[in-house]
Amino acid sequence: MSNPSANSPRRIGILGGTGFVGRALRERLLKDRHSVKVLTRDAAPHALTAAQPYIELAEGDPRDDGFLREALADCDVAINLVGILNERGHDGSEFREVHTELPRRFARISRELGVQRVLHMSSLGADPAAPSHYLRSKGEGASALRLELGEALPWTIFCPSVIFGQDDSFTNRFAGLLKFMPGIFPLACPRARMAPVHVADVAEAFARSVNDPATHFQRYEICGPRDYELKTLVEYIGRTSGHSRLVLGLPDWMARLQAGVLEFVPGKPFSRDNYRSLQMDSVCSASQPGLSDLGITPTALEDVAPGYLSGKTS
Ligand SMILES: NC(=O)c1ccc[n+]([C@@H]2O[C@H](COP(=O)([O-])OP(=O)(O)OC[C@H]3O[C@@H](n4cnc5c(N)ncnc54)[C@H](OP(=O)(O)O)[C@@H]3O)[C@@H](O)[C@H]2O)c1
Repeated sequence: MSNPSANSPRRIGILGGTGFVGRALRERLLKDRHSVKVLTRDAAPHALTAAQPYIELAEGDPRDDGFLREALADCDVAINLVGILNERGHDGSEFREVHTELPRRFARISRELGVQRVLHMSSLGADPAAPSHYLRSKGEGASALRLELGEALPWTIFCPSVIFGQDDSFTNRFAGLLKFMPGIFPLACPRARMAPVHVADVAEAFARSVNDPATHFQRYEICGPRDYELKTLVEYIGRTSGHSRLVLGLPDWMARLQAGVLEFVPGKPFSRDNYRSLQMDSVCSASQPGLSDLGITPTALEDVAPGYLSGKTS
């Protein structure tokens, strides 16, 4: 394996690099002349173009240590972006497999292979004592990764609030729901607070950390410039997408009922686990390292979202 100096291009393996954040990150890494290998369970939907000669796809099952070992063997840097918002079952076992056991194995294999740097995506509110399977498993995953890597291999963990951008599943999902909801939109957890952060700022944070020793063994909380109540955000998305509705905040018992019903609708548009995650505000703490420590000025939702949401009127 090469031993690149601080500014030289690296060979970077990204698990979860086909997703919303992964697509933004790999484009950003290419600008720094890194070469990128995207690890995916299914390469077919992610066919690369001739314009992406520095991206390689490695197809396999991340539950198989052999696949991870082979795919990461020639990488200097390993990045884990894998995450799910809902599981197929209801007992938390899939969350634990994807958010806890996978990062543990990813870290162990990276260490055994002699990878030089590990970057890991967690979430704001991730904590082994959090109220939802999602946040608990994310918290346990970050702890497991740190334990595996110790002080031997420099890690950096990123904990973003909700992430927005052209292809996100947050603003676009609400825009889609509002479009089909006549008159009144019933909203669970309307007072939940969050600080949407632009996907390009998240990608920038990862990219700046690749070669910066100041980011070693650090955990960054990643937020946009403002925090909002969910109800304010949904009203804004409605106005911006041309589907203004009366957003009706549901009382807690109705929110729980809604989650219990929608959990069994195909696609799980909302679940009891989502409800439990929303009991915790997703906002950054001023006392924790964040985007400003990485020299990044966060982009406002209002500066970007109209550009893609206003096209959703038809
Ligand atoms: N988007 C947000 O608002 C937000 C907020 C906070 C934290 N995060 C975290 O940021 C990370 C990236 O989010 P994203 O929005 O980019 O997610 P995404 O678009 O859903 O992409 C997730 C990636 O994970 C892989 N993946 C999904 N399920 C998997 C499984 N069971 N086993 C192995 N791989 C699996 C997929 O890769 P393949 O299908 O190609 O294998 C996919 O590329 C996640 O860890 C997420 O929890 C996101």
